[in-house]
Amino acid sequence: MKTARIRRMDISDLEAVLAIERKVFQDPWSETSFIFEICNNPHARPMVLTFMDTVIGYSVVWMIFEAMHIATIAVDPAHQNEGWGKYLIRQLLKIATPETEFAMLEVRPSNATALRLYASFGFRIIGQRNRYYRDGEDAYIMRLDLD
Ligand SMILES: CC(C)(COP(=O)(O)OP(=O)(O)OC[C@H]1O[C@@H](n2cnc3c(N)ncnc32)[C@H](O)[C@@H]1OP(=O)(O)O)[C@@H](O)C(=O)NCCC(=O)NCCS
Repeated sequence: MKTARIRRMDISDLEAVLAIERKVFQDPWSETSFIFEICNNPHARPMVLTFMDTVIGYSVVWMIFEAMHIATIAVDPAHQNEGWGKYLIRQLLKIATPETEFAMLEVRPSNATALRLYASFGFRIIGQRNRYYRDGEDAYIMRLDLD
C-alpha cells in the first residue's frame, strides 16, 4: 500500500476520472458535473485514489450537516476485486467529523458487488427510490450509523 495515496481530486485528474467513469457507469457523470464538485460545491469532498501516481479510483462525498452522502465511488475495472474499493471506503469514512451521524448512499439492486462491499462495512438497506436511475431501475438507499 506504500505507493497508494488518497488525495483531493483536482482538475488535472479529470481525464483519468472521466475515462473510468465512462467505463463503469451506464449513465456517467459529465465533465461539467465533476468540475462543479471540484470547484463549486462547498459540501463536496472529491477524492482520487492513486497507485504509483496513476488514478485507479475515486469518490465524491457530500458532507451535509449530520449526513455523509457517498455520491459516487468507482475503481478502474483493471484494478477491481483487488481490495481498492474497501480501501477507498475505509479512508472516506475517516472524513466524518463529530457532527457526522451517518453515511448514506444509493445503489442499484442489480449491483451485487457494490451491495456486498457496503454490507461488509455495516451499511443496511433502509429504503428504496422508485425508478431512480435513468433506465428505470430502482435504487436502494443504504445507511451506516457512525459513532
Ligand atoms: C463497486 C466497486 C467500487 C468495488 O470496488 P473493488 O475495488 O472492485 O472492490 P474490492 O476489491 O474492495 O472488493 C469488495 C468486495 O466486493 C467483492 N467483489 C469485488 N469485485 C467482484 C466481482 N467482480 N465479482 C464478485 N465480487 C466482487 C469482493 O469479493 C469484496 O468482498 P469480500 O472481499 O468481502 O468478499 C467497483 O466494483 C466499481 O467501481 N464498480 C463500478 C462502479 C460502481 O458500481 N460503483 C458503485 C455505485 S453505487
